[in-house]
Amino acid sequence: MPHPKTAENMMKSAGPIETALLPSLVHVTEAAAIAASYQMGRGDKNYADHVSVEAMRRMLNCLDFKGTIKIGEGERDEAPMLYIGEEVGTGKGDIAVDIAVDPLEGTNLTADGIPGSISVMAMAEPGGLFHGPDVYMDKIVVGSQVVKYEKEHPDEQIDLDAPVKDNLEIVAKALNRDIEELVVVILDRERHKSKIEEIRATGARVSLVSDGDLMPGVSTSIRGSGVHVVMGSGGSGEAVLTASAMKILGGKVLARLVLPTVANGKSQEEIEAEKAEKMPRLNTMGITEDNINDVLDTDKLVPGKDVIFAASGITPGQFLHQVNLFGGGDARVNSISMGSSGVVKFTDSIYIGDKEDTPLRL
Ligand code: FBP
Repeated sequence: MPHPKTAENMMKSAGPIETALLPSLVHVTEAAAIAASYQMGRGDKNYADHVSVEAMRRMLNCLDFKGTIKIGEGERDEAPMLYIGEEVGTGKGDIAVDIAVDPLEGTNLTADGIPGSISVMAMAEPGGLFHGPDVYMDKIVVGSQVVKYEKEHPDEQIDLDAPVKDNLEIVAKALNRDIEELVVVILDRERHKSKIEEIRATGARVSLVSDGDLMPGVSTSIRGSGVHVVMGSGGSGEAVLTASAMKILGGKVLARLVLPTVANGKSQEEIEAEKAEKMPRLNTMGITEDNINDVLDTDKLVPGKDVIFAASGITPGQFLHQVNLFGGGDARVNSISMGSSGVVKFTDSIYIGDKEDTPLRL
């Protein structure tokens, strides 16, 4: 949908999900981020995850809508809350949505007090989000300027299977700079050793992250964030959440499902064991050994037309600040939220507990 030009047009063009739920969505990620921030640096990633999941679920269940978790904390038998298939919301009203959540993206980052953790979620009309299994996706993420360049140069297209150099040359031309000036974010994993060497061989700069490849992907569509490309394999849920933001911002994600044992170079025996465990479940989602290697683009990952996305920072990030706690439960939390109409909001919320004591500062 072409983005309208004025706030008034945007209000009119926003779909029913964006109109009804975007304002509340950011409160949901804020609540989960604040809950997680109390556990920052305490070394217990599972508990940090637990409190953010609880907070997000509590908030979702206050909202009037019928929601179904499509990407969540795992299958019903392994996750007590926000599991795949769980119904959330009060069930009141006509709005039905599919939901992707990651209440705490970067559990280790929060537990160790390291930059880059967020609380994040997306919603779309039923069928609007790729209903994928919880494995990895190998991916490449680029911003909207690259998409514009591709449209103007049909022979130069980002390709998941192309040599890294070919893709980075396209990005450099699209951003009107030298390859040496690009920054490529990639998870610091053994499985990425040769890809990291390939990126460095092009002259591009590499930013290795210990965890959290979702927000760097979103950052490729935000000028000034200092991130131009994200590559490598990471969580499939993270890839769908990145694609939700990119669908709104006009960027691009190309991704392919890959089993973690395959990506991490495990033994044939371990690969077969993972296949035996996961393929039956994947088959029920329409994913077979024949099509598991298909490349999924932004529209396949997020076919929805009425998409909303929100993320709140827990520890400091590329463009989101950390949660600040002021005592007495008061908190300041920084978020981005956006919808398919083209509205993007950066919010800096302060929850005032005590009107006399809570400091408001610019
Ligand atoms: P968690 O928040 O679940 O710990 O995930 C963090 C993360 O780094 C993601 O950002 C990334 O996509 C994925 O884990 C990578 O998985 P792995 O650690 O197995 O390489």
